[in-house]
Amino acid sequence: MKNGNNIILIGFMGTGKTAVGKRLAGILNMDFYDTDQEIERITGMSVTRLFYKHGEIRFRSEEALMIHKLIKKKNSIIATGGGIVLNSENINLLKNTGYLVCLTAKPEVIYERVKRRNNRPLLKKGDTYETIIALLQDREELYRCADFTVDTSNMDFEEIINNILKFLSEQKANN
Ligand code: S3P
Repeated sequence: MKNGNNIILIGFMGTGKTAVGKRLAGILNMDFYDTDQEIERITGMSVTRLFYKHGEIRFRSEEALMIHKLIKKKNSIIATGGGIVLNSENINLLKNTGYLVCLTAKPEVIYERVKRRNNRPLLKKGDTYETIIALLQDREELYRCADFTVDTSNMDFEEIINNILKFLSEQKANN
């Protein structure tokens, strides 16, 4: 049993966590939070600027602080940055407050989704596709902490949402 009824979206960059989270929040009449957007609001800086001005370590510490704040929320959907799983404490805290839903996608799909946007500092160095492959490999194991995983590679938006809704109704039925 979970201590809370939040739904936490984890997964690699470009898997649709923010868009899916917003839509789910609308359907389920829950509040919506996005860790990157909250960090930007609190620091007054874009994630990109934060990375360049203060470095990744500072960003990760803002991220961990934000998790401590967001776990106090109830009835909320929380979309997280792709690197949230790098800190096991983040995951333990989030897991306690609700269901962890992981969105995944094949590297080539991720590449197509992220290539036009310029807001992800980790993908700006070197060859983007190679970086995606390397980061996915590093993190693959970490994303397995999820209670439910949806491979979004061949799904449209509605299918992703319906898959998650189905999982949630099964959980309700079992509890
Ligand atoms: C990151 C993912 C980004 C953002 C930052 C670092 C990562 O969020 O938090 O650029 O380490 O994977 P999205 O997953 O929303 O793109």
